[in-house]
Amino acid sequence: MLRDCFNYHDFRKLAKGRLPGPIFNYIDGGADDEVTMRRNSEAFQSCDLIPQVLTGVKDVDLSVEVMGQKLDLPVYLSPTALQRLFHHRGERATAGAAQKFGTMFGVSSLGTVSMEEIARQYDTPQVYQFYFHKDRGLNNAMMQRAKESNVNVMMLTVDSITGGNRERDLRTGFSIPFKLNLQGLWQFATRPMWGINYLTHEKFSLPQLDAHIDMGNGASSIGDYFTNMLDPSMNWKDVEEMVKFWGGEFCLKGIMSADDAKRAVDIGCTGIVISNHGGRQLDGSRSSFDQLAEIVDAVGDKIDVIFDSGIQRGTHVLKALALGAKAVGLGRYYLFALAAAGQPGVERAMKLLVAEIERDMRLMGCSKISDLNRDHIRFR
Ligand code: LAC
Repeated sequence: MLRDCFNYHDFRKLAKGRLPGPIFNYIDGGADDEVTMRRNSEAFQSCDLIPQVLTGVKDVDLSVEVMGQKLDLPVYLSPTALQRLFHHRGERATAGAAQKFGTMFGVSSLGTVSMEEIARQYDTPQVYQFYFHKDRGLNNAMMQRAKESNVNVMMLTVDSITGGNRERDLRTGFSIPFKLNLQGLWQFATRPMWGINYLTHEKFSLPQLDAHIDMGNGASSIGDYFTNMLDPSMNWKDVEEMVKFWGGEFCLKGIMSADDAKRAVDIGCTGIVISNHGGRQLDGSRSSFDQLAEIVDAVGDKIDVIFDSGIQRGTHVLKALALGAKAVGLGRYYLFALAAAGQPGVERAMKLLVAEIERDMRLMGCSKISDLNRDHIRFR
């Protein structure tokens, strides 16, 4: 039950009981041996917080400004794909929860509700997550649509020019459009609520892509989609042109080295997201947290450094902020809550996380996010 959920693991467990196995494993899994995925969360244990006492923390202000957006919280809901497969309200539930908490959320190129509808209906900062396709016509059209719908931040994913090796998906046959195989039909029988909701709501579609890509018959895995549709030749020159064309807040998601962060500054980006895609792309890649300090040292005074991958706790958020991240993205944390219970699920997950962050701030002796700094952290 939702009211029995108190942390990431509880939401994950509830989601597991509600979703057909292939869908749960698509969210839950990573690439190859999932070493990077595990390290992403473990890395937070390589340092400890050092609280300061008697600082007089009466009120706690969690607001931040990032990518030109004023947010009530230092955490936001990262753009993720295929949300209506996880819960029939999908992106609508996510956007609704983000709005309620005064924070930012993202719509994905592989989103299941159109960016226009979401931009029209929800009044909270919106990111558009861009996959750079081989089809330049599709790329141009997506940019234009995002511009016309007044999306606040363009976020180009740069770590996915080919599909990560997600062996769980290969085993379960998870594909888009979603199809149930024989084993899946059994899942369907054991997850009737999910099945009824899936069948009685609007048909699965990918409205960012539909006009350009025929998803009709051939089902493909997400890995194959990346490999076949995305352009592996994408380079700094291409992105520089996109940044110019966009003419607003533009960040690169999936930066893992200080040198690349400097190049992002050089081509006019206003932000980067340090991310390894939740360990779903290059397994054996360093964890985002392990790379955070050196990237902040290289570019933190020139560009907004945002962080994601592995966040499960309020203290994880505090550690990333103390090392210099401007804001922290959540992925699986809210997706499991979405799958578990739709918008009320995401709201509960957010409420718990905000309470944790607020409590931890008090215990740390900090009354605003900018109070957090490296004096609060010691590596073991
Ligand atoms: C994934 C993509 C779609 O990680 O972002 O599955």
